[in-house]
Amino acid sequence: MAASSVHLALLLCLMIMIPATVASPRRLRESPAGASRPTTFFEVDRPLRPPPGSSGPCSTLLLSGSFGSTLAKPPATAAYSPPRCLAAAGGRASAISLAVLEWRAACRGAQLDRIFGVWLGGAELLRGSTAAPPLDGIVWSVSKDVTKYASLVAAGRSTLAVYLGNLVNSTLTGVYRANVTLHLYLRRAPAPRPPPAVAPADLVLPMSRALPPNSGGGLWHQIRSAADVQSTSVALPSNTYRAVLELYISSHGDDESWYTNQPGYRNGPFREVTVRVDGVLAGAAWPFPVIYPGGIYPLLWRPVAPIGSFNLPTYDVELTPLLDGKAHEFGFAVTNAQDVWYVGANLHLWLDPGSTATTAGLVSYVAPPANATSSQSGDPVDTHHHATASRLFSAAGWVRSSYGNITTNATQTFGLEYTLTFETLDRTTVAGAGVSATDHAGGVVYAVQTRRNFPLGWLYEQGRLTVTHGLDETTVSAGRWWTGPRSRSLRTTQSSVVEDEEGGGKSWGVRQAYSYEATDGCYFRNVTSSGYGIVSDHSSEVCAAKGTSSGRGAVGAAPGAEKAGLVRN
Ligand SMILES: *[C@@H]1O[C@H](CO)[C@@H](O)[C@H](O)[C@H]1NC(C)=O
Ligand SMILES: *[C@@H]1O[C@H](CO)[C@@H](O)[C@H](O)[C@H]1NC(C)=O
Ligand SMILES: *[C@@H]1O[C@H](CO)[C@@H](O)[C@H](O)[C@H]1NC(C)=O
Ligand SMILES: *[C@@H]1O[C@H](CO)[C@@H](O)[C@H](O)[C@H]1NC(C)=O
Ligand SMILES: *[C@@H]1O[C@H](CO)[C@@H](O)[C@H](O)[C@H]1NC(C)=O
Ligand SMILES: *[C@@H]1O[C@H](CO)[C@@H](O)[C@H](O)[C@H]1NC(C)=O
Repeated sequence: MAASSVHLALLLCLMIMIPATVASPRRLRESPAGASRPTTFFEVDRPLRPPPGSSGPCSTLLLSGSFGSTLAKPPATAAYSPPRCLAAAGGRASAISLAVLEWRAACRGAQLDRIFGVWLGGAELLRGSTAAPPLDGIVWSVSKDVTKYASLVAAGRSTLAVYLGNLVNSTLTGVYRANVTLHLYLRRAPAPRPPPAVAPADLVLPMSRALPPNSGGGLWHQIRSAADVQSTSVALPSNTYRAVLELYISSHGDDESWYTNQPGYRNGPFREVTVRVDGVLAGAAWPFPVIYPGGIYPLLWRPVAPIGSFNLPTYDVELTPLLDGKAHEFGFAVTNAQDVWYVGANLHLWLDPGSTATTAGLVSYVAPPANATSSQSGDPVDTHHHATASRLFSAAGWVRSSYGNITTNATQTFGLEYTLTFETLDRTTVAGAGVSATDHAGGVVYAVQTRRNFPLGWLYEQGRLTVTHGLDETTVSAGRWWTGPRSRSLRTTQSSVVEDEEGGGKSWGVRQAYSYEATDGCYFRNVTSSGYGIVSDHSSEVCAAKGTSSGRGAVGAAPGAEKAGLVRN
């Protein structure tokens, strides 16, 4: 654990004296060596359902790997060719109605949480952290919707690569074993001519380091300081009419827990990943504060992993207004970065089937500098540290293709609020993104508005630490090309408690509420755990009737409410 906050380091010093791997002494004594069963760890997420009229799944084991002393070594690789069931269905990307990448892993022996990535043809498909396994072993799995990479899945032969940087010695004996499986669902009837621009991209260009990398490690760019800009040059096909850059982001080493940093200490609590095209700022991502399963205090995340830790969120930056059909250099940087950030990027491109070249022009572009502030209040003994930051990007441009002359206006807005006191941390990031594409007559071709909210807080009092964090995401879509759900809303809150017990032990528990509501389906789940055991787990896929309670969790609603989540074992 990095002592990212002077205050928290002081507060937790008592707790840290018990190493995480032996923090459940009673449990370990109960199970004779070798006879214990591994614990299943999990991140709360919704099941992936294929659209009606799909067949499948047809499942292919892509890679089976064992990751012992792999740190800074080249990734494990396997030759990839499109599954036979896809060839039998005509082989086209548009035959895929849902593609799911499943990561299933196990580890026996103590080990730290480690970062891993999965790449197909150099394009990143999944990034996750492993769990922080206790001695008696764990298993966990992640299923990710990778339909947006359908063009890569259907393309010819390529290479699947997995990097998981692990280190084994006489204390950390855990070797991770992992299987990567692709599950394809195919359309029974031929796809209706896919609506342009909103179907999966026709081409996904990786902007990673080349495979095999000379120095080993993942295919991500490594950004080691605020001044470090990592660049890749790509030539876009001349008939491109839409471009979206997808970012994968994770922070490690000195910046593993940047989100808690007191202002003025270790570059403070504000980070943004910026994207430059030929040196000009084109957009940004303000990262979700991913807590790794060994983060803050490892017992907090057993067995329910922190939000986004097993399957890290990705971030899209709409680049269509900046298209001009020329080769460009894409640069990536992290404001206030300390050593080290792993930034990967895929460029999703939509190509005009009716022409060999599009023409394009920029109409307007606004990107004032980010406004970051910090201040203090309170007395010298109980100082309150505040920080804020905000940022706006807006660009509009037109692209003339066989679909007509379409003007795209893309806007990003960001805000951060942060307060740290002796006992509490309270921070939230709000990220808004809007894309509006209109035709020459002003009709809306497609429009997507997304708002993400990342709250994170803790409260430490009387030997009891409560960490509450959440992810809210709302997307509203419209326009005549749009065929997907008109609205989607995800709201999940996880509240984890660890507490000193009389006699020196620890007890811990997690409550998580997950609520997903979309015009094409819903999913609700409430989970409560105590120690390694699940106390209650309720889920439902029935959408609540309009106007009734949406199933928003009571978790974190009142400080007293968390008490119920901590059942002593
Ligand atoms: C990976 O797949 C192999 C073959 O099916 C199986 O024996 C092994 O247990 C799997 N490993 C994990 C971690 O699921
Ligand atoms: C094993 O590796 C960890 C992490 O690098 C280190 O802290 C520990 O001292 C090592 N143990 C031994 C016995 O070398
Ligand atoms: C920067 O943000 C602070 C805090 O929200 C605000 O008071 C100030 O007016 C902003 N400055 C600019 C130039 O927008
Ligand atoms: C496309 O539309 C924009 C905005 O209406 C206009 O400025 C531009 O000249 C048009 N381009 C072409 C090739 O017609
Ligand atoms: C683009 O959208 C933003 C936000 O809605 C708006 O302020 C701006 O005027 C629009 N630009 C153009 C050129 O339409
Ligand atoms: C989850 O908990 C909330 C609040 O207690 C409740 O309204 C909701 O019905 C629960 N959902 C499920 C699926 O159990």
